[in-house]
Amino acid sequence: MQHLDTYIESNKDRFLNELLDLLRIPSVSADPKYKADVARCAEAVKQRMEEAGLDKVEVCPTAGHPIVYGEKIIDPTLPTVLVYGHYDVQPPDPLDLWHSGPFDPVIKDGMIYARGSADDKGQFYMHVKAVETMMQNGGLPCNVKVMIEGEEEVGSDNLGLFVSANKEKLAADVVLISDTSMIANDVPSINTGLRGLSYLEVEVTGPNRDLHSGVYGGAVANPINALCEMIASLHDADRRITIPGFYDAVVELSATERAALAEAPFDEEDYKKDLQIDAVRGEKGYTSEERSSIRPTLDVNGIWGGYIGEGAKTVLPSKAYAKISMRLVPNQKSDAITKLFQDHFVKIAPPGVKVVVKPHHGGEAAVTPIDSPAYLAASKAMEETFGKKPIPTRGGGSIPIVALFEAELGLKTVLFGFGLDSDNIHSPNEKYGVFNYFQGIRSIPRFFHHYAGMMNGK
Ligand code: BES
Ligand code: MN
Ligand code: MN
Repeated sequence: MQHLDTYIESNKDRFLNELLDLLRIPSVSADPKYKADVARCAEAVKQRMEEAGLDKVEVCPTAGHPIVYGEKIIDPTLPTVLVYGHYDVQPPDPLDLWHSGPFDPVIKDGMIYARGSADDKGQFYMHVKAVETMMQNGGLPCNVKVMIEGEEEVGSDNLGLFVSANKEKLAADVVLISDTSMIANDVPSINTGLRGLSYLEVEVTGPNRDLHSGVYGGAVANPINALCEMIASLHDADRRITIPGFYDAVVELSATERAALAEAPFDEEDYKKDLQIDAVRGEKGYTSEERSSIRPTLDVNGIWGGYIGEGAKTVLPSKAYAKISMRLVPNQKSDAITKLFQDHFVKIAPPGVKVVVKPHHGGEAAVTPIDSPAYLAASKAMEETFGKKPIPTRGGGSIPIVALFEAELGLKTVLFGFGLDSDNIHSPNEKYGVFNYFQGIRSIPRFFHHYAGMMNGK
């Protein structure tokens, strides 16, 4: 594969500059004011996929943001890899914490700073460049279908419909996704699981209008106080979630599985230092790594109400709100957990307030095999490019479409991610290593080579 590395090396500047151009397009899927930018980004992705040598490249409209699809079928009897990624990004807020513009990418100390650099433009674009590299150096060893969507960060609802409606078009042997992270640049790893998600918004209403907190305070339920009490009661002293039935479907890992997870290097002191916290906190009986991957969680993502402007205003507010997410593990069903939360949260409301729970998006957890030809091909590819065999690890984030690929298309996924947890995804100053970008571009053709070889029984 040396000639491929040489090709990549001699096109390094162009490969980087093309990514920077994509990063300049603010393809924020959550905010309607970026709709035209999202559409422009889809067109740019289409053009790049065509230039890389993919056939039948199209921008497929949906009820929301479009999906970009292209393929290269060299021989229908050969295996097919379905590459998935997303060109949409999270909102860049809070803007004042960025050291440079979120859509004005800069390279500093070997890192590409921009919203979407790691999640997921920098990672899906590695596949486009890997396809180009293979096409320019003897061709692909098997078929590829590439599907890059524009709504991952808002729950992939329209992609779910697209997948169900296009089973034949998307027929493949395995899904390959670069949208996760590794342990460290000198400790390569492959994610073998994702958590599911249930996301809701709650509204607590007290009196019919804002009141003077002196005139009424003490005699009328304050919805913010009530909301805080209710949220606090959702964890017990062992930091377990108190919603009845919440853990019923959770499958406990065996001691062997837990021991295997514990083998991944993890330094709790470094972890605390990096986050400037003096202690970790989580469910009793589990390590930090377990708490953030194989255990379900409940977190408040935002909470507001009352007066939050300058200075003080004495007010007993009429309403309080919170956005709450629960990360789920395999066998917990997102809809069922949402229902459990809804019933419980309404029930624990103290007298004098009314509660409305509004479900947002959800998604199911997924686990991927570590003994499949595709996993072994990915492992071998990374071992060649990093000089070390990657460690399988369970991840804590969510990519809802992974469970749907399995349910609808019968396909398992390989999470071939090259980011790092320290990339600040969804946060100000998101970054992606130039090293990581090129390691991905070097590793992907090796994956195709090994996968095609293994599937041919070689
Ligand atoms: N790429 C992330 C998921 C991820 C990141 C998985 C790091 C493992 C390690 C993805 O873009 C993402 O942010 N997903 C959302 C879910 C979605 C429904 C909004 C998430 O996990 O919050
Ligand atoms: Mn992502
Ligand atoms: Mn994301």
